[in-house]
Amino acid sequence: MTRHFLRDDDLTQSEQLEILDLAVELKTDRWGRKPLAGPQTVAVIFDKSSTRTRVSFAVGIADLGGSPLIISTANSQLGGKETPSDTARVLERMVSAIVWRTYAQSGLEEMAASTTVPVINALSDDFHPCQLLADLLTIREHRGTLAGLTVTFLGDGACNMAHSYLLAGAVAGMHVRIASPAGYTPDPTVVSDARALAAASGGSVELLTDPIAAVTGVDVVVTDTWVSMGKEAEKTERLATFGAYRVDSALMALAKPDALFLHCLPADRGFEVTAEVIDGDQSVIWDEAENRLHAQKALMVWLLERST
Ligand code: CP
Ligand code: NVA
Repeated sequence: MTRHFLRDDDLTQSEQLEILDLAVELKTDRWGRKPLAGPQTVAVIFDKSSTRTRVSFAVGIADLGGSPLIISTANSQLGGKETPSDTARVLERMVSAIVWRTYAQSGLEEMAASTTVPVINALSDDFHPCQLLADLLTIREHRGTLAGLTVTFLGDGACNMAHSYLLAGAVAGMHVRIASPAGYTPDPTVVSDARALAAASGGSVELLTDPIAAVTGVDVVVTDTWVSMGKEAEKTERLATFGAYRVDSALMALAKPDALFLHCLPADRGFEVTAEVIDGDQSVIWDEAENRLHAQKALMVWLLERST
């Protein structure tokens, strides 16, 4: 059976740990595994902009002995001109895996259902699961564990990062708090999925509106842009709504004294986070960005092994 990675809970807790352990191995022995030797090609498709995802997948595929084929929707037949299903059936004749950054989660599901090669979600409107593997790796590197830690995500609770924190954090046995204003709360289906996962892993899920209550005493503080890709038309109202959720030094001081600060980047400095916090001692954003490489390499090795 082909294994895909479309959302964070496509992995069980033990599978998530296997991938994080493999990421640690690949971080210390960067060129130690060559499952894509040949070189085999991996298609990496972008319907939305990217810096980190594009570079980390291109470099990671090359590190694994393969050849990355970066495709922009604008220069392809995707984007309404050809279905994800037909695209997948063509690509699988030539590539070993498909990585896709897109809008609707349903497109990824359609592609995965139509192909025998692993499909990886490189960000959709609903989830950013590759980012969460990197975030969990980073948190574990700095804290030694994941289960039992409390993480607070502040800002747009309905965005892909908030949803992925709910699912991936719950799988990992973390206590996940989402602090967002009314109208920007997480999808109730994702919340109920996360609650079921947390009940099994020993974690928990809390939705809050008060940013002060949300960060008090926590181990990890996370935020993301208030204007995700695809939401640009709502920028003015969003900037007017989210002000109380800005992570500044005063808010950060309410978390544990050694609390970590994470941000998937790109950051709108001065909006969701102040320069003082993102450039401060508690920020681990550069480790987090580097860990995209190691975590995604581990993911690809693992998916290719499990899919044969
Ligand atoms: N964090 C992240 O996915 O960054 P890019 O949009 O630059 O890929
Ligand atoms: N929530 C952001 C993440 C960017 C990496 C977006 O979707 O634009």
